Amino acid sequence: MSQFPIDAVRNQFPALSREIDGRPVVYFDGPAGSQVPLSVADAVRDYLLKHNANSHGVFATSRETDAVLESAGRAMADLLGADDPRSITFGPNMTTLTFALSRALAQSWATGDEVLVTRLDHDANVTPWVLAARDAGATVRQAEIRPEDCTLDIDDLLSKLNDKTRLVAIGAASNSSGSINPVRRVVEAAHALGAEVFVDAVHYAPHALVDVAQWGCDYLACSAYKFFGPHMGVLWGRPERLEQIAAYKLRPSPNSLPDKWMTGTQSFEGLAGVVAAVDYLASLGAADASSASRRASLAAAYREIGAYEQELTTSLLDGLAGLSVKVHGVTDPARFDQRLPTVSITHCGRTPTEVAEHLAARGIFVWHGNYYALALTEALDLEPDGMVRIGLLHYNTADEVARLLAALKELE
Ligand SMILES: Cc1ncc(COP(=O)(O)O)c(C=O)c1O
Repeated sequence: MSQFPIDAVRNQFPALSREIDGRPVVYFDGPAGSQVPLSVADAVRDYLLKHNANSHGVFATSRETDAVLESAGRAMADLLGADDPRSITFGPNMTTLTFALSRALAQSWATGDEVLVTRLDHDANVTPWVLAARDAGATVRQAEIRPEDCTLDIDDLLSKLNDKTRLVAIGAASNSSGSINPVRRVVEAAHALGAEVFVDAVHYAPHALVDVAQWGCDYLACSAYKFFGPHMGVLWGRPERLEQIAAYKLRPSPNSLPDKWMTGTQSFEGLAGVVAAVDYLASLGAADASSASRRASLAAAYREIGAYEQELTTSLLDGLAGLSVKVHGVTDPARFDQRLPTVSITHCGRTPTEVAEHLAARGIFVWHGNYYALALTEALDLEPDGMVRIGLLHYNTADEVARLLAALKELE
């Protein structure tokens, strides 16, 4: 095993010491929401108890609230590789922000225009675009998957791009199969034809370094509650585009960035928690970072996280290979750089609900169903039962993987 400081990491997450029937809970439900380090909960509490106010006033707590908002913008810019904190918009969750952006973008779409979505995506990166296209009279096309390993069929996607395409909506990684998509390749192909690209990085962000500059995308969304923060969504967009597009907003609220896209009052306590979550991640790489910048620390942290998670994925997939289950995703170790530690399975003799209940009774928390990656379970003919998702994060351990495998063995 690597030198990943797993004990020091776990000590920061109070939830990990919770027990059921005298045994610690195993949280493999991370893709639906991670646990938070104490520093995040402390930041939320500190804001609410000492700085609570609305923004843009002239008195101390309001000015402190503005400072939290600015600091959250800087933290997210560092996390996403953006150079302008004004390009960061906060909201309640990714779905709400995506609906807002899709509706605003669709104001310039018309009959004959096309929008390209994929069958691998969470529905939050499908339905907002489908509805916006419907309202504008535009056509929706859908890129297929490769069912054998639940990856995106890139050739199919590229063949569906043309000079009528206005927007491509892709995920950075699947919240179901864990497959990673070649975002930069898609962006280059889309831009060559004049289309913009929206990236759903919700599932990717807890595991790997997002880099909007390197990817070259136009918009990107993620959710802080998946990367060890509070329940908040984050939208990044090219600042010139966010300035240009007409947002659905109230008349008195500012027309300038970043406020323009943030409808209503924000969860300022949540924003304080977002800063703490990004700082927590950066702290995991601080010792290795060659430069003192938070971005450099984050890059180092994700290198450590990625290497450690890959070790866990290897033991998990090795163990699953000897059981009566089918893995819906990449299983070839030579291709592990194309997947995250999110493993969806079906059992030969038990329904996903039965498997999840069997594990829950042993204190092992996994998700079952389609986890809103509906087009994928439909393509695999797995509706209505779906699959079982074992979602690992960097606070999980090899012992926990062994506990899961032993519990699944009882079902043989
Ligand atoms: C890949 C992916 N995209 C989008 C979403 C929706 O995110 P939110 O709950 O912030 O709207 C999720 C939530 O599970 C997800 O996993």
